[in-house]
Amino acid sequence: MIIGAGPAGLLLGQLLHEAGIENVIVERQSAQYVLGRVRAGVLERTTVGLLERAQVAARLHSEGHVHDGIGLAFDGVLHRLDLRALTGHGVTVYGQTEVTRDLMNARTAAGCVSVYEAAHVSVHDFDGDRPFVRYTHAGQEHELHGDFIAGCDGFHGVSRASVPSAAIRTFERVFPLGWLGVLAHVPPCHPELVYASHERGFALCSQRTPTLSRYYIQVPAGAQLSQWPDTAFWDELRRRLPTDVADAVITGPAAEKSVTPLRSFVAEPMRFGRLLLAGDAAHIVPPTGAKGLNLAASDVCYLAAAVREYCCEGSSAALDAYSSRCLERVWGAVRFSCWLSALLHRFPDTTPFDRRLQSAELDHVVRSRAASTALAESYVGLPLEI
Ligand code: APR
Ligand code: PHB
Repeated sequence: MIIGAGPAGLLLGQLLHEAGIENVIVERQSAQYVLGRVRAGVLERTTVGLLERAQVAARLHSEGHVHDGIGLAFDGVLHRLDLRALTGHGVTVYGQTEVTRDLMNARTAAGCVSVYEAAHVSVHDFDGDRPFVRYTHAGQEHELHGDFIAGCDGFHGVSRASVPSAAIRTFERVFPLGWLGVLAHVPPCHPELVYASHERGFALCSQRTPTLSRYYIQVPAGAQLSQWPDTAFWDELRRRLPTDVADAVITGPAAEKSVTPLRSFVAEPMRFGRLLLAGDAAHIVPPTGAKGLNLAASDVCYLAAAVREYCCEGSSAALDAYSSRCLERVWGAVRFSCWLSALLHRFPDTTPFDRRLQSAELDHVVRSRAASTALAESYVGLPLEI
């Protein structure tokens, strides 16, 4: 039983289906609602590899864009980090919404069962051999019994919330700021993503397609959308970019606008008997490193392999190693995302001394091949040991 039809739950379902393992997804929202959520869109090569293994990479390869570099802008200058030259790899820009759509379509085509708009979902007996999920749908009570429950229900889901507090440890860092994101039907201002550090705050120029762009600016924690009409957003974005990049920004009405708090959260362990957490249900990373979706993918890669090994070979070795394998990768991504966030944002309590250190670190990253390689390696993603 998989709880949640976000990218973690859907990809897990597809990988298990490919391994011949029956699975059912139970999702609280409608499929339309799930597809309507705008999230990030930078895929590591390991995530692309997993989507290929799940047989859902055709559209990604035809409509996604491989980027071999990223831009880093500060002090009015745009620097390019050549990811391919530094690591041998690039990243693929393809919206999470499209990944979710491809996974949903593949699941429907495979005839796998997904229950949308399931209410009162609860998990039971995961400390025994026959865990079950209870939910109501269309006014009817249902119970699903099986071997495992995969908690892929995000940060606010029922899975982690059902774990006894004595059995779980959590770690959290909340940054005193957020990202105001705008999705607009305009061409991108630059062929690659641009991460800008500016005295007025961070800015990011990202994209989905040649006609759909995604932009972010750093705002104080608690900022309200009502404070940011489109014109104010575009003006502030341009102020934070080098002149040549700012001049290339084509503005338009926001098709979607939202504020994301900058925070990081990790729950340990990620397995509780027959309940296994994956994705945002177990960890949240600041969006700066674009690691959220990629971590969800690597979690379910380990989870699918562990369940397959248990069901097909009767071994629980991978199940027993599941939590530590995931957490090693999770903390690596948390380290990188927090470091990049500290490097590129302005904090209310930044002292002049801190400011100088930040500048020196930015200079170091673009001048030192070792430092830019370290950034590039984490950005393109570390190999996935299977
Ligand atoms: N019962 C059933 N479904 C639930 C419940 C519940 N009690 N609570 C939440 N869900 C569903 C949500 O409606 C959502 O569709 O679980 C799904 C969780 O999906 P995501 O939040 O997208 O989490 P995940 O699949 O782990 O994907 C992580 O999403 O938020 C981004 O940056 C994050 O990119 C990362 C990715
Ligand atoms: C996005 O395209 O939404 C995006 C890209 C890179 C990030 C974060 C978000 O680091």
